[in-house]
Amino acid sequence: MAHLPHIDQQRCSGCGLCLSVCPEQAIRLVDGKAEVGGDSCMGCGHCQAACALQAVRLADMPVELGLRHVSERLEWLAPGRFDAADLVQLLRSRRSVRTFQPREVPLSLLEDLVKIGSTAPSGTNSQAWTFTILKNRRQVEWLGGLTAAFFRRLNRRAANPLWRLAARLFAGDSLGRYYRRHHDSVAQGLAAWEERGEDRLFHGAPAAILVGGESWASCPAEDALLAAGHILLAAHSLGLSTCLIGFVVEAMRHDRRLAQEVGIGRHEQIYAVVAVGYGAEKYHGVAGRRLLTPRYLP
Ligand SMILES: Cc1cc2nc3c(=O)[nH]c(=O)nc-3n(C[C@H](O)[C@H](O)[C@H](O)COP(=O)(O)O)c2cc1C
Repeated sequence: MAHLPHIDQQRCSGCGLCLSVCPEQAIRLVDGKAEVGGDSCMGCGHCQAACALQAVRLADMPVELGLRHVSERLEWLAPGRFDAADLVQLLRSRRSVRTFQPREVPLSLLEDLVKIGSTAPSGTNSQAWTFTILKNRRQVEWLGGLTAAFFRRLNRRAANPLWRLAARLFAGDSLGRYYRRHHDSVAQGLAAWEERGEDRLFHGAPAAILVGGESWASCPAEDALLAAGHILLAAHSLGLSTCLIGFVVEAMRHDRRLAQEVGIGRHEQIYAVVAVGYGAEKYHGVAGRRLLTPRYLP
């Protein structure tokens, strides 16, 4: 494995803490010193984080992310050490914002968001995310144009009863469902863009981050959505607003050429598109949620 931990034998006291947190039993004690054996290590860095003597290092996995807009604190917050009320308030204050100021977002801030996204968990620690930054309004509008072209084609097809019938015979009712649920609102959105330059897709955002995953990863979709979740929250705490744009994800999923135009590789898929910018909306309180009842096992 590329990221085998290196254990400084001089520093290691043989306390065994690194062994106890290793999920793969990849470390053992040999003559009172920790030693990495076998190739089961997945590079999660738990051994490094557990070592009080800084005896463990993983090449290519720097602990400092090099954030430009956040002062990094590297000490571990034990469970219960972060104010839950602050956290819940942050979670509840994030909004999907649909009116952005034209002000550009500094690239360094977008880069910080990507780095913060990469602190999310990933299946078997694959960290196989891909992040694509659209750094200005021109690039966002360009992707918006490609997406609009996709939906224009899809709307034409969905409006045709023969296409819907053929699709139903060979591929199920997804085109019919799209026609019933989305055709009209998409048509209105396209008309608003063409006639009045009103951007109902990206809501006028001056930047966007596309979060994808490499197909070799064990859970690329879940990984990408978790990273996107981190990005949404971090953006809010950094003074930015966001909105997930599922329409672009759909367009890229169904039209490989569109994805390729954006530079998305053949072994990669985009799972979340995050519009980013300075929000023009103001709220006084948090939004409500349905009160869901969990299911309990007897
Ligand atoms: C997977 C996903 C896709 C979404 N796609 C869009 C979208 O294309 N356009 C949009 O305006 N909002 C989109 N949203 C935002 C939701 O409408 C929003 O999360 C929901 O209304 C709750 O509002 P809140 O995010 O402010 O709590 C999307 C949200 C998710 C989770």
